[in-house]
Amino acid sequence: MTSQNPVIVLHGGAGNWPTRLHESALNGVRKAANLGFKILLEERSALDAVEAAVVSMEDNPIFNAGIGSTLNLLGEIETDAAIMDGRTLRGGGVALLRNIRNPIKAARIVMEQTDHVLIAGIAAERLALESGLDKGNLSVLRRVQAWKEGLKQLKSKQMKRSSNKTIEIFLGRLSDTVGALALDAGGNLAAADSTGGVSLKLPGRIGDSPILGSGLYADNQSGAATATGIGEQAMRLVICKTACDLMRQETGPSAATDTIRLATKKVGIGLGILTLDRRGRFAAAHNTRHLCWAARTRLTSVEKMWGTRVSK
Ligand code: GLY
Repeated sequence: MTSQNPVIVLHGGAGNWPTRLHESALNGVRKAANLGFKILLEERSALDAVEAAVVSMEDNPIFNAGIGSTLNLLGEIETDAAIMDGRTLRGGGVALLRNIRNPIKAARIVMEQTDHVLIAGIAAERLALESGLDKGNLSVLRRVQAWKEGLKQLKSKQMKRSSNKTIEIFLGRLSDTVGALALDAGGNLAAADSTGGVSLKLPGRIGDSPILGSGLYADNQSGAATATGIGEQAMRLVICKTACDLMRQETGPSAATDTIRLATKKVGIGLGILTLDRRGRFAAAHNTRHLCWAARTRLTSVEKMWGTRVSK
């Protein structure tokens, strides 16, 4: 067994975070990072650390995941989440959950208790409930108000059902998704993420977050990555697998900036990424205005509303 210095790096979403929310968002990522790092210091697994960190952010209404998720065009909540083990390359995802308090726990059940990688909709909800997960009312007033405001904007621009247009509106108010990466004392990497998705999305739309390679990826031979922002962009670039492939030759920080540079060139503005390489080097990069993130090692403690901004 290697004795690796443990690392956790996590985010509470890329986008335009209003100044009045910065303090609460930073407190949220600090709490999640402390919780995840404590698990790593107890020599528990990277998987346990990323799951606990994401649960903490799902339970915090400031973030767009679990309680506090954004609403789709019809005013409903449909959440997506996934988790991946870099040691085995096993992963599990869930999509379109409506009433499960912690979608990330459902994703871990898919990974560990089924032969599948992704389960969606009513069947995923049933699996979660049969496995003993709690139901939850995920709706909060701030998101309902944002939904009403978004609908008004759609109406005023006569954009009733065009998802491209709704995503344009979403870009202006993006504060998207939570995710976490960890390296444990055994040298194992893991990744996890969870989201309410883009607000005003069409019902049934599934983003990058539950898709291995797009919303997250982890491979002990290369590195781990998790994405935030417009899922359609992340999926078109299979962005987290792209970043992990770069980490075969490059450090985590260099892979993060190279990946976001590629994203800006190929698909435009709207993404952020966290990377963590197998030697514990990590970074946050984005082409959005903000990326709320935190990291803990034995020597470092960081919480910030910005990473490396790569807008060209
Ligand atoms: N990145 C989250 C989503 O697009 O659903």
